[in-house]
Amino acid sequence: MQKRSLAPQRGFFPQPSYLIGTYKEDGSPNFALITWVTFCSVNPPMLMFASRGKKLTRELVEKNGIFSANLVSTDMMYMADYFGNTSGYKKNKCDEIGCM
Ligand SMILES: Cc1cc2nc3c(=O)[nH]c(=O)nc-3n(C[C@H](O)[C@H](O)[C@H](O)COP(=O)(O)O)c2cc1C
Repeated sequence: MQKRSLAPQRGFFPQPSYLIGTYKEDGSPNFALITWVTFCSVNPPMLMFASRGKKLTRELVEKNGIFSANLVSTDMMYMADYFGNTSGYKKNKCDEIGCM
């Protein structure tokens, strides 16, 4: 394959995707699709993710300091699609998709 030079951009390499899970105030779960996830500490083991703009996931993590990271596999693609394109502020996502 011939080498191609690309202009600086953010979508520059394939990345795994994660469903980032949080709990709302009433104890019900919410998930968002996040790709910008990485380790930020070995001891204690900690993950971080980058989030842009106003999102329920970001608000809940800032408030509670905890989240789950669920690696998306092929059989979870329909969930990834839905959770990545629907705001938790507008829908009760888990009820809508019937994942719980
Ligand atoms: C392929 C894909 C990757 C995404 N990666 C991120 C990400 O890394 N960081 C982020 O803040 N949002 C990312 N999003 C957008 C969120 O999933 C989206 O804004 C979601 O509606 C937020 O839901 P929430 O309001 O329930 O938190 C991604 C969306 C898609 C489709």
